[in-house]
Amino acid sequence: MSLSETLPVIDVDVFLSQPEDSEDVRQECKKAADALITYGALLLHDSRVSEEDNSTFLDLVEDYFNQPIAELQKDERPEIMYQVGVTLENTEKPKCAVDEPCLDIIAQLDPAERPLDISGHHPDPKCRFFWKMGTPPPYETQYPALNAPNVVPQDPELKARWEPTMEKWGQAMKDSVTSISEMTAIGLGLNRNTFKEAGKYGPHLLGPTASDLVKYGRKDTILAGFHTDLNFFSIHGRSRYPGLHIWARNTGKRIPVRFPPTGRYLLVQAGKQIEHLTGGLIKAGFHEVVVNEATVQTIEKRKISHPDRPLIRISSTFFWHLSSDYDLVPIPSLKARAQSLLANDAGPAKRGFQETVYEPMKVGKLVQNELKHIALMA
Ligand SMILES: [Fe+2]
Repeated sequence: MSLSETLPVIDVDVFLSQPEDSEDVRQECKKAADALITYGALLLHDSRVSEEDNSTFLDLVEDYFNQPIAELQKDERPEIMYQVGVTLENTEKPKCAVDEPCLDIIAQLDPAERPLDISGHHPDPKCRFFWKMGTPPPYETQYPALNAPNVVPQDPELKARWEPTMEKWGQAMKDSVTSISEMTAIGLGLNRNTFKEAGKYGPHLLGPTASDLVKYGRKDTILAGFHTDLNFFSIHGRSRYPGLHIWARNTGKRIPVRFPPTGRYLLVQAGKQIEHLTGGLIKAGFHEVVVNEATVQTIEKRKISHPDRPLIRISSTFFWHLSSDYDLVPIPSLKARAQSLLANDAGPAKRGFQETVYEPMKVGKLVQNELKHIALMA
């Protein structure tokens, strides 16, 4: 199954080149909002996204994680919950493994559509690096730990390439996801700046993950167990290895993510913050990263085509957050729409989603609650 056949493709170029009230822009914005309501995900096309920048970024992050472990450990910041710098493998647990409503969701999926079994409670064998890309708030924040300074690797060769490469690719993804936030707001009947303003001082993160495919390249290995993301939107560039599966809210089908073979595309997934703010109209999308048959084939091909490169699967991911001090309260018009959607749909839209209550809270509080679940915060 090709993702382009199942997920709508939203053209950001249309939004950027025409007036907000034009019919084309209205339609594209509605398509974005509807895609997020139905699938919790969309593909976007944006001419500002360069495949070459993504490739330069993937090379850098492969080289970084190819360093000895002692070198990587210098970049760990456990005292601030790993919110900047590196998180090494076997630290983060899939939240779902310890979370009952989430296990119910898996139980209600058709057995053929279920994620790989996470019930063994093993932490994920993936590493990650967080590079902060937010604008510090001009006011005193209640959540300073989430706004700590960036870490630059000490190796001179990596250090020289690090910041320009991270900033260039990160900014491209940030620009795209900001446009999608505006398009989604318009498509939901809100002011275009609703989400953009709420995320103005968000602790946005460029957060690539790395999986060692020499150690963890066997078929059916879980690299990141079934989970949702705690931020507002997650945006992904093309990875060199397949293996990301997403679940569309209304179908219960596992969808292997495949980008169109060429072109300027990114994948956007809804996270917990947009779920909360929309009162569940848009649900955070479940996903996993595993070694599937296509991953194994790609590993074998890459050994031949790039014998000198490290065999590490990098995911090119950016996490877009709302400001930590923002009051997260479901928007009344969207909450009402979410309730009528549930009331009028006896089908799979209800799967595991009936009884969620979205208590008002600061965004920073939601993030802290989620981090406790995944074992990154004591
Ligand atoms: Fe994720």
